[in-house]
Amino acid sequence: MSVLIKNGRIVTAAEDYIADLYIEDDKIAAIGANLPQKADKEVDATGKLVFPGGIDPHVHLDMPFMGTFSSDDYETGTRAALFGGTTTVIDFILQTQGDSLRNALKTWQKKSEGKAIGDYSYHMAVTDFNDDVAKEVVEFIEEEGITSFKTFMAYKGALMIDDGQMVQLMKVLKKHGGLITVHATNGDVIDSLIAKHRAEGKLSPLYHYLSQPEVTEAEASARFTDMLHYTGCPGYIVHLTCEGALNAVRRAGLRNQKVFVETCPQYLLVDASVYEEDFEGAKWVMSPPTREKKDQKALWAGLQQNLVNVVGTDHCPFTWEQKLMGKDDFSKIPNGHPAIEHRMELLYSEGVKKGRISLSKFVEVTATNPAKIFGMYPKKGTIAIGSDADVVVFDPDKKHTISKDTHHMNVDYSSYEGWKVTGKTETVFLRGQTAIENGECHLEPGSGQFVKRGKTSYII
Ligand code: URP
Ligand code: ZN
Ligand code: ZN
Repeated sequence: MSVLIKNGRIVTAAEDYIADLYIEDDKIAAIGANLPQKADKEVDATGKLVFPGGIDPHVHLDMPFMGTFSSDDYETGTRAALFGGTTTVIDFILQTQGDSLRNALKTWQKKSEGKAIGDYSYHMAVTDFNDDVAKEVVEFIEEEGITSFKTFMAYKGALMIDDGQMVQLMKVLKKHGGLITVHATNGDVIDSLIAKHRAEGKLSPLYHYLSQPEVTEAEASARFTDMLHYTGCPGYIVHLTCEGALNAVRRAGLRNQKVFVETCPQYLLVDASVYEEDFEGAKWVMSPPTREKKDQKALWAGLQQNLVNVVGTDHCPFTWEQKLMGKDDFSKIPNGHPAIEHRMELLYSEGVKKGRISLSKFVEVTATNPAKIFGMYPKKGTIAIGSDADVVVFDPDKKHTISKDTHHMNVDYSSYEGWKVTGKTETVFLRGQTAIENGECHLEPGSGQFVKRGKTSYII
């Protein structure tokens, strides 16, 4: 199977030019003006953008959490991702405390194999570190192609590890070329504020927000960067939301550390005014919560300053019925929101179209940096000869409105209902196969491949 995409504006993290792109089987085989190749399929991309398939390194599919499971599984989640121009996702395996990483891997393989439509990989969340787990960590890096390890500084009793375990894990990862990633919030302080609000009968979604003030994230981010400094381990902070946490990363830079940072569209675009007293705010109950306007400003600046390296989603959807588990108590609302489908279009519309970031920065933070940081580059994350033909043809001017009635995620509301967006994913190729065309998904469950990743790039 061969494909010729003609006359598109090809955008990478470094380049921006008009050319033809020729795909042979699963790889990009030629790029140039007026390519002579004849192909089985030709796409006229005149006036369109052509960029690498997005990589969303922060999704939770079919994940057990807060007494339920996130509502998108590997089939619905990766399909929705493809509709939005994301061809590869990295999901989180959760170790059950007291059990092995190996058992957790087997559980997630059952969830994904034969079901995923888009490509996927796993981070391994270490929730209970000990000597046996240390050996498994090394095996995962050397043999399984799972080279990034998630830690939680919150969610005590289920996912959180203490600082001693964190430092020991960092030492193992430093030695064997792994990357530590973190949910950096101070779990003890948050738990005490939740308990106080509940005792006072303050039970609406607003108190989810008020239980996680900025200091809980700023403090944990600083503590994490201090532990990285002590151990020399490379680190990545997921879903960073606020100025205080970003300043902790800035301070780490002053002592010559490079700490990778991910934010998400909701933290760039939505502020805490969504947490009203009524239950509608449950749509935005996620951890950390959305913040203030000054934090949005800091995050956009952080993108410009190369302090924020990645925009992921933290896609963790729950249906409205699931959200209602917390109708009388905010602490029982499953944390998370649906976003896997909208990341690229929201960031293009609000970022590129509104002049906040360049097109190349858009590609860098949605595809190239995730590929480099998580050991998939240049197989994924760029348009280059020999790379996987994960390619998006994007209409930069098409206007549309986000709605639960048109999205493909398995959830019966949209946090972004009614948002007007400019720019639409039109055609998507996954390893040379037509994945999305004319508003239809052409791939079946099982088309998605597990991406075995290499050791992390310390330098991006
Ligand atoms: O609220 C969130 N973010 N839910 C998913 C789990 C996590 O903390 O990333
Ligand atoms: Zn988190
Ligand atoms: Zn998450």
